[in-house]
Amino acid sequence: MDVQGIVEDIVSEVQPLLGLGAVASYIPSLGDVPAENFGVCVAMSDGPVYGAGQWQQPFSIQSISKVYSLALVMSYDYDSIWKRVFREPSGTPFNSMVQLEADNGIPRNPFINAGALVVTDRLLTLTGDAAGAVRGLLRSESGNQELDFDAAVAASEAEHGHRNSAMAHLLASYGNLENPVDLVLENYFKQCALRMSCEDLALASRFLARHGVSAGGTPFLTPNQAKRVNAVMLTCGTYDAAGEFAYRVGLPGKSGVGGGIVAIVPGRCSVAVWGPSLGPNGNSVAGIAALDAFTTRTGWSIF
Ligand code: DON
Repeated sequence: MDVQGIVEDIVSEVQPLLGLGAVASYIPSLGDVPAENFGVCVAMSDGPVYGAGQWQQPFSIQSISKVYSLALVMSYDYDSIWKRVFREPSGTPFNSMVQLEADNGIPRNPFINAGALVVTDRLLTLTGDAAGAVRGLLRSESGNQELDFDAAVAASEAEHGHRNSAMAHLLASYGNLENPVDLVLENYFKQCALRMSCEDLALASRFLARHGVSAGGTPFLTPNQAKRVNAVMLTCGTYDAAGEFAYRVGLPGKSGVGGGIVAIVPGRCSVAVWGPSLGPNGNSVAGIAALDAFTTRTGWSIF
């Protein structure tokens, strides 16, 4: 399979889509990123790495960080997180809180914002520094020791973070936070503000394509845990578009409002795409089209 040729073709094919949708602006400092950017990287589980377009340009990973905080919590604490968060698709936007009260403060899944706040809270209890733990994992798995938080993005999100603050307070009112609200929010905004390239993300996610085996060759997750993280990505990773994503792409995937999406082909490779312009569900328009083309061309879907 000529994977390098395929990713280069995909970059050409998505060019007409790059203007569709809108770059996220509810976190004001994300709104400055030009919509014309596009990158793709494929990291094979047995070593080779392929990339095209702006695949080495860092961007804000945002909600993609929720995959690694969940993986870390599961690595420390196998199953106890599921007492505090469900694992069902919400069918609602990533920042919705309508179900949270109806469900007595238990978020529908760990990838909507309310669920990710609970996971970050747990990681804070387990490590004392949740955002630092996520950064540490991503540095060691990607091999990029320079990757870091974008302080301006984190501050911008904090300044406009009324909805996440409201969710965190509602969680606390149900006794579903172990740490002070402000500390949980600070760690959550920092982990979302990590800057990484498609190359960094594909490499850092390879443990999910290798049944939990880390970049160093040792188990980070058990094969069963890796299966479970991938399953939650499939059902909940793209929010109220998870059905559409499964239909078009046919892989576990996790999006972020910075325009990145990570997808996993278990046993074969991890893929990261980046196109900042988002559709109505907060997922990259060109990114989904690129992953659709990738699984169509390669036949590498789980279905
Ligand atoms: O909490 C937020 O709203 C952002 N830090 C992350 C949202 C996000 O990336 C949703 N994904 N598509």
